[in-house]
Amino acid sequence: MNALAHKRILLGVTGGVAAYKSAELVRRLREHEAEVRVVMTRSASLFIGPQTLEALSGERVYCELFDPASPSAMPHIDLARWCDAVLIAPASAHLLAKLAHGLADDLLSTLCLAATAPIVVAPAMNREMWLAPSTQVNRAILLERGVRFLGPGEGEQACGETGPGRMLEVPEVLEGLAAVFEPALLSGVRVLVTAGPTREAIDPVRFLGNRSSGKMGYALAEAMREMGASVLLISGPVHLPAPRGVERVMVESAADMAAAVTSRVVDCEIFVATAAVADYRCRAPAGHKIRRTGELLTLELEPTPDILATVAARPAAPFTVGFAAETEGIDGGLADLAGRKLVAKGIDMIVANHVGEPGQGFESDDNELLVSWHAGERLLPRAPKTRLARQLVPIIAERFRAKGQAQGPGPTSRA
Ligand code: CTP
Repeated sequence: MNALAHKRILLGVTGGVAAYKSAELVRRLREHEAEVRVVMTRSASLFIGPQTLEALSGERVYCELFDPASPSAMPHIDLARWCDAVLIAPASAHLLAKLAHGLADDLLSTLCLAATAPIVVAPAMNREMWLAPSTQVNRAILLERGVRFLGPGEGEQACGETGPGRMLEVPEVLEGLAAVFEPALLSGVRVLVTAGPTREAIDPVRFLGNRSSGKMGYALAEAMREMGASVLLISGPVHLPAPRGVERVMVESAADMAAAVTSRVVDCEIFVATAAVADYRCRAPAGHKIRRTGELLTLELEPTPDILATVAARPAAPFTVGFAAETEGIDGGLADLAGRKLVAKGIDMIVANHVGEPGQGFESDDNELLVSWHAGERLLPRAPKTRLARQLVPIIAERFRAKGQAQGPGPTSRA
């Protein structure tokens, strides 16, 4: 399905090195049969020539608010009324600040004030600029008002630094934009997601933990919310902000996570366990800091409850999705391991990934997923976790509906 076909996209381009990506964006939008009109800020035209975007879009490129050569006396109003969505890519820190505070001193910021269509931004800036408190406050204000953020991604930046602030690549921007027009696949469905690592106390200052960053679970919670679900996220300790519109409960240990899930799972229709829950905890954590003696130290570990298997075994179990992080790859038995976990845990779907590979899995932004259910499987090739999350949700939604239909009464009718 091509959600962008025949959609009218107003592409705003602001000043920054990533402005070169706007040329590719226009080409791909047109390949998706979208109509594109481009508005550039003055500084954007220092990075890419309006003629390039004019040739690629097949339309006049708009730069000035008051342009005697313009066919329209009020281009800001006409363009705002014309479009089905405003996409600003790259969006500079300055543009975000102007949007957040309603400034209107050029064509792009003025038409954003006048637009009633959804506004989608793909920020691009130096990492310190992105992390600056004022940018983060502006981001929060815009999110609150319903502006959609695509990225930024992390990685090497034009300035030579590394961190968050890179504009997403064109395919990801297109997918994020398409999501604006896609039907809400999980409209009104109640979802519970676990994410992140757990910490098991050894003594008051030390714990057993793992390398889970929580990024996959958070991306999935956000994608499910975007597709209409009401999402509760039960998260172990991570440094990620709660996705917009998602209710979050922070927990520490496997036991805390199990208790939080048990108390909330009755209300949910889909349970997605992305958390890397500790399998063992100290049988008797020390009450005081353990002192160094130079002697061998043995910790006695006991198993933790399997949260996912417990949920799947409930009498009116929700649709259950497990994640399996394995050190075996696609060619090394990953599918077999995943298939065995699917059966052993009595769940509806398992999403397996290969960890321990450089650049994917734990602590990384990228992943490759093998999704298996009782009657089929799909491989989602390596991509950023946010993109995989958007690809995974329709698969979950489809299997959830199929199970509901097979069981008779509609899945959403279960209390
Ligand atoms: N899981 C859980 N509670 C646990 C352990 C795991 O809910 N105590 C869930 C995870 O959230 C994940 C799935 O079970 O969705 C698989 O976790 P994984 O660690 O891969 O599997 P294990 O059951 O721990 O099996 P193994 O140690 O053999 O890999």
